Amino acid sequence: MRLDKLLSNLGYGTRSEIKKMCRQGMVKVNGQEIKKPDHHIDPNQDQVCLNGQTVRYREFIYLMMNKPAGCVSATFDRYDQTVIDLIDHEYLAFYPFPVGRLDKDTEGLLVITNDGQLSHRVLSPKKHVPKKYYAEIDQEVLARDIKAFSQGIYIGDDYTTKPASLEVIRTFEADDGTVHSEIYVTISEGKFHQVKRMFEAVGKNVLYLKRVQMGGLKLDESLELGEYRELTEEEVDLLEKKDL
Ligand code: URA
Repeated sequence: MRLDKLLSNLGYGTRSEIKKMCRQGMVKVNGQEIKKPDHHIDPNQDQVCLNGQTVRYREFIYLMMNKPAGCVSATFDRYDQTVIDLIDHEYLAFYPFPVGRLDKDTEGLLVITNDGQLSHRVLSPKKHVPKKYYAEIDQEVLARDIKAFSQGIYIGDDYTTKPASLEVIRTFEADDGTVHSEIYVTISEGKFHQVKRMFEAVGKNVLYLKRVQMGGLKLDESLELGEYRELTEEEVDLLEKKDL
């Protein structure tokens, strides 16, 4: 790969800026100053340094964000802040995008990557990658709701969901005196507003929704809302695991 291509792909500047950096002696390959921007390197073998800093080459990036409410899961939005607006400049050269969408008011686990094939595999209903959500519901969630979810729920638009697993964590009296339940629900599809529509179909409302797991990958609860970090290789593999 050409040296200038590698550095511009990684966001270190335009080709002409990189040419200048080479001329100024700012670029070294395996410890040797390289003045020619068209110098060929093996990105997996050669050590490239820019201004004394080692350049880490990779084709794909994988980030885990604890998405806050109030921003949208898109790369661009005319009105709202997007999850990509929260991402540091060093990652933007990879043109990352969110793997699937969480609603604007939903929080929790969002994977952001530039690996389109992985994104497709994780989202495809045929691959059955489970997505687990924590939710607070405005009423008591009952055994009959668990049964209905396990059989699939008609959510309108001629569509019945695949079976979903529903688990009640606790039922309690809220500050306003009404009874609420905290639940986990696991679905393997990602229809628009799916969890909210499933509860609406059984006469209940989701008051708060947070994704806690995708495949075998759990939300790192030490991430504050709006924070993100890179996934480890093991975590990237976990993402496609079918058994939670
Ligand atoms: N289901 C919803 O209703 N909203 C989300 O953000 C995710 C799943």
